[in-house]
Formats: sequence, structure tokens, C-alpha cells
Amino acid sequence: MKRLENRVAIITGAAGGLGRATSIQFVREGAQVCLIDITDCESLAAELKALNPSLSPLVLKADVTHEPSVLKCVAQVAERFKKIDVLVNIAGIVSQGSSSDVSLEEWQRVLNINLTSTFICSKAVLPIMRSEHYGRIISMSSVLSKNGGNPRPWINPEEQTRAGNVAYGVSKAGINALTFFLAKENAHHGITVNAIAPGPIASNMTTHFPQSLKDLIPVGRMGKAEDIAEAVTFLAAETAGFITGEVLDVNGGSWID
Ligand SMILES: NC(=O)c1ccc[n+]([C@@H]2O[C@H](COP(=O)([O-])OP(=O)(O)OC[C@H]3O[C@@H](n4cnc5c(N)ncnc54)[C@H](O)[C@@H]3O)[C@@H](O)[C@H]2O)c1
Repeated sequence: MKRLENRVAIITGAAGGLGRATSIQFVREGAQVCLIDITDCESLAAELKALNPSLSPLVLKADVTHEPSVLKCVAQVAERFKKIDVLVNIAGIVSQGSSSDVSLEEWQRVLNINLTSTFICSKAVLPIMRSEHYGRIISMSSVLSKNGGNPRPWINPEEQTRAGNVAYGVSKAGINALTFFLAKENAHHGITVNAIAPGPIASNMTTHFPQSLKDLIPVGRMGKAEDIAEAVTFLAAETAGFITGEVLDVNGGSWID
């Protein structure tokens, strides 16, 4: 039995590493996927079509920080498929800098792209999910929302302080808090709202990680995009209906709380 048969899912950041893996897994599980990204998703859509020719991935090029564009995308999905069952908020950017180094402009850019976009997209789909009395929202947080910064044993303590990701970590902690509020507000509408906090995943964002950081991961390897896709699918399935307001760690044991 496919876990997402007949489900309509919007995936933001679909062109990236985690978005692509999630889109593939969703199609394998029978979902009709709608791919939103600021960059081109056409080749991914062709790949997905080849994987399951009975489904037609919808490609929607949009900036998820721009509310009118997001509302337009959501209206297009609703018009074509008559419902929206799942929203996966994956679009995001990484940012380096400690609180003494990061500029206000960078702080606002990161919060806007990572956190405000999650608010905009969730708010846009919720009226449709409420009318169906069913929905699943899953947003991409990070281990950095919890741990105050990754250890960097290969650099000295002064450099370590400066090499933080404060804006990024705070944007992801904001996603956790948004998840808690949306979960409570929507539980009686049959909608669950959860987040996933990945540890280091082999992707464009982490190519610069040295072996000494990888050696700190207890399971002995970097995560794979497919590890995250599996967690998203688990939370997106109808069977996960009693899980809401959860931030699920998927980090190989590198941070346990
Ligand atoms: N890779 C990791 O190790 C890791 C760990 C923890 C959390 N995350 C989070 O997972 C998510 C995806 O990570 P990834 O490794 O796939 O990154 P990625 O850079 O490969 O993908 C991010 C995607 O988001 C899209 N995007 C960025 N800004 C956008 C905007 N304004 N509108 C629409 N699309 C936009 C990009 O075009 C890109 O396709 C991010 O939110 C990231 O913070 C990643």
C-alpha cells in the first residue's frame, strides 16, 4: 500500500537536494506533487513523470517570500487538483556569521527566506486544508535551531565563536515555534503540523564540512537526502495523524534532547 496515494502535495525548495529527494519519494508513494522553487524544476518534473507516468507534476516557479506569488501558486494547485493535502516547506538558505559579525541586512534576509516564507506558505494553504478537514504541514528546521552552533574542533576557540550561524539557527528556531502554534491552532481541523531538524546532510550546503566534523556523528556517516525524505513521508502519511507539534531530530545521534 502506497503511503501517499491520491494525496496532493506542495513541496517548496523542490529543486534543491532535500526537495528533490522528497519529491522523488512522494511520487514513489503515489502523491501528486506540485514543485515550487525560485529556480527551474523542469528537469526534476521530467524525471518524476518518468518514474510514474500516471502522475503529472506541476511546476510553479515562485519566490516563497512574496505572498502574492505564493497565493497564486496555491490557487493554481487548488484549481487543478481541487484540494491540497500536504505542504512541505523546504525552501531555505544557509548563512554564516556570529551575532557580532552578521549584518542587520543579512539577519533580515535569512529570517525572511527561511522563516517568513514558512509562515506565508502555511497561511496560504490552511484555509483549503481546513475546508477538507485534513492536512499535513512539514517544515524544514535544523539541529542549529537547538544547539547554539555546531562544534568545530579543527579551528581555535576564537575562530569558533566567529564561525557561528546565528541568523540561520534563529530562523530555524522560529520555524519550531511556528510549528507549535500552528499545530495547536489547527489540531481540531484534522491538520497536523510538524518540523524536521536535520543534522549534517550531504548536500550543496555541506560540501565544505571537513572529515573531523563528520567523525563527530555517532552513526559514523553524514545523513543522506533520502534519510530526510523518509522522515517527511512518515509525517505526511495519514497514519501519522496523532503526531503534531513535534520537531523530529534526524541527525545520526549528533544532538540528542
Ligand atoms: N543540507 C543540510 O545539511 C541541512 C541541514 C539542516 C537543515 N537543512 C534545511 O533543509 C532545507 C533544504 O536544504 P538543501 O540542502 O536541500 O538546500 P539547497 O540549497 O539544495 O535547496 C534549497 C532550495 O530552496 C530554494 N530557494 C531558496 N530561496 C528561495 C525562495 N525565496 N523562493 C523559492 N525557493 C527558494 C533554492 O532555489 C533551492 O532549490 C533548507 O531549509 C535548509 O536550511 C539542510
